[in-house]
Amino acid sequence: MLKGKDLLSIHDLTSDEVMEILNLAHELKAKQKAGIEHHILKGKTLGMIFEKSSTRTRVSFEVGMYQLGGQALFLSNRDLQIGRGEPIKDTARVLSRYLDGVMIRTFGHEIVEEFAQYASIPVINALTDLLHPCQALTDLLTAQEHKGKDLKGLKMAYIGDGNNMTHSLMYACAKVGMNFASASPKGYEPNAQVVANAKLDAAQSGSTIEILNDPFEAAKDADILYTDVWASMGQESEHDERVKIFKDYQINNELLSVADKRAIVMHCLPAHRGEEIAEDVLEKNANVIFDEAENRLHTQKAIMALLMG
Ligand code: CP
Ligand code: NVA
Repeated sequence: MLKGKDLLSIHDLTSDEVMEILNLAHELKAKQKAGIEHHILKGKTLGMIFEKSSTRTRVSFEVGMYQLGGQALFLSNRDLQIGRGEPIKDTARVLSRYLDGVMIRTFGHEIVEEFAQYASIPVINALTDLLHPCQALTDLLTAQEHKGKDLKGLKMAYIGDGNNMTHSLMYACAKVGMNFASASPKGYEPNAQVVANAKLDAAQSGSTIEILNDPFEAAKDADILYTDVWASMGQESEHDERVKIFKDYQINNELLSVADKRAIVMHCLPAHRGEEIAEDVLEKNANVIFDEAENRLHTQKAIMALLMG
C-alpha cells in the first residue's frame, strides 16, 4: 500500500509497488485517451517546489493534477522564503498544513529527505542530484509499451555520466528483473552505495547490474540503449571539460551496431544532439523518446493517485 507514503527513491519501493504504479499508469493513460473522467484527487492540492529548471516535470505534474480533479501550485525557490533562508524543516511543517502532497526538485538529496522527515503529507522526489525516480518509473512504462509488459530478462545499457538518471534506472531495472549495464568514463561511474543497493534488489529479482567503462561492452546485445546529458543541472561550469572526457560515450549508429537488432534508444530529455546522442539516432527513435516525455504525465498521475488518494 502506497497511500500516505513518500516517493523519494525506487529502492524504497517493493517490486509489487512498482508494478502497482505501472498498472495504474497504463489504466489512467487509457482513460485519458478515451475521455473517461478520473477525478481521483478531487479537491486536493499538490505543491510543486522547484529549485532547478524544468519543462516536462513541471507541466506534467500540473496538468496531471488537473486531470485528476485537483490543482497544483508552482512554488519557485525565488518566491518561497526558502530562498531567503527559512529552514526546510519549518517549510515542510507549514506546507503540510495547506497541501495534500508536495513534489520537490532540488540539488542535494538530503534536502528532500529532510523535507520528508518533517512533512506530514506525501513527498515526491522530482529530481535531486542523486535520483530521478519519476523519470525512471516512466521509462519502465515506456519500455513495456515498446518491448512488452514483461520486462524480465531484457537488457538496458546506459551510456554516459553516472548521474541521477543512471542511479534511478539501475534501481528501476533491478526491481523488475531487467539486466542493467552502464558505461562511463573513469571517475564518472555511478555512486558506489547506489550500486550496492541496486545489486541487492537485482539479486532478489534475478537480474544483473554491471558497471563498466567500455560503451561497446555495455551496449552489446542490449534491448534498450539509454543516455542523458554529460553535464547535469548544477554542473554547467564543467560542460566544456566534460565534452572532451565523454566524447567516446555517444549513442550513435556505430554503438547501435553491437546492440540487439530491434534495440530502442531512450533519452529522458532535454537532449544535446552531437554530444550524448547523434542527431539521426534521436530522430529515428523519436517515437520512443517522445512517448517517454508523454508518459511522465500518466506515470506521475498514478503515483499521485496512489500516494495522495
Ligand atoms: N526529463 C525531465 O525531467 O525533464 P525536465 O527537466 O524538463 O523536467
Ligand atoms: N541528469 C539530468 C537529468 C535532467 C532531466 C540533470 O540532472 O540535469
